[in-house]
Amino acid sequence: MTAPAPARILVVEDDPEVRELLEEHLTALGHQTVGVASAHDALAMIEPAPPDLILTDVNLGGMTGVELCARIKLDPRLQLIPVVILTAVADLDARVAGLAAGADDFFAKPFNLLELETRVAVLLRVKSLVDQLDRAEGVITSLGMTIEARDPYTAGHCQRLARHAVALGNALGVDSGLQRHLMLAGFLHDLGKVAIPDAVLLKPGPLDAGELARMRLHPVIGAELVQTLRSLDGVQPIIRHHHERMDGSGYPDRLEGAAIPLGARIMAVVDVYDALRTARPYKSPMPHAAAIDVLRRETDKGAWDPRVLAAFIALAPDLLAVEP
Ligand SMILES: [Fe+2]
Repeated sequence: MTAPAPARILVVEDDPEVRELLEEHLTALGHQTVGVASAHDALAMIEPAPPDLILTDVNLGGMTGVELCARIKLDPRLQLIPVVILTAVADLDARVAGLAAGADDFFAKPFNLLELETRVAVLLRVKSLVDQLDRAEGVITSLGMTIEARDPYTAGHCQRLARHAVALGNALGVDSGLQRHLMLAGFLHDLGKVAIPDAVLLKPGPLDAGELARMRLHPVIGAELVQTLRSLDGVQPIIRHHHERMDGSGYPDRLEGAAIPLGARIMAVVDVYDALRTARPYKSPMPHAAAIDVLRRETDKGAWDPRVLAAFIALAPDLLAVEP
């Protein structure tokens, strides 16, 4: 195995001797190591500058290392940081609680420093691969925003869609995986518009049949563009199906009802709402109540998922209260 690149490691240990031993050893391996004595101090350091790896003792006085781990693993911004819990070999209870809290590994006390070195290297390597994936997603998310930037009338559309879709997914009880896919799809749903010429995309008025057919390819093109990125597997169906309608009159696959992925049914409602509320060269922005009336009428005619729309209407006052 190649030597790991220098990483930022946080050691949370209230016993100064053990803390210093770990700090010294990890620093000697070339890592930037910081030691703190409590979970409280750890959180104060982690939130502004997340480290690459956290080693934490269980009993810290106050919040335990297991509780600290659970806090980190529940925070979407921090949950990819590997957390290692330091336990006595025989402490099965701490191991079970640590596993339930999402710990990535355990080190038994007293430490075998060679084993520690090897396992730290493995965890840092995984973390570095995850970071690379995160950067790839960042690039593609930025690409989604550059497409939005081609059309000055859609400023802020991606951010609003991401926020509304995640909140709506949350209200409907979707799991954290789908919430993440909804966030990314907020930025990527119209990625396929890269292939639509400005003359069609920015045409100030109704499209003719040929232009409409071309425009309607954007979900297919977008889905194809993300096909090779495995980390976007769950985002692809939302991109492909965000213009399907419950009665099968949508595109590109004319899917019906529950055959349309839930993420796409959620994205459809927030996308149409945002389009209605946005000014275009040929129309003024619609007030909230009028936009909801349109969505209700379209739902009655079979376009949108009534359960999704009901949840959106219930959520709207909270969403709009924080709108810039
Ligand atoms: Fe679209």
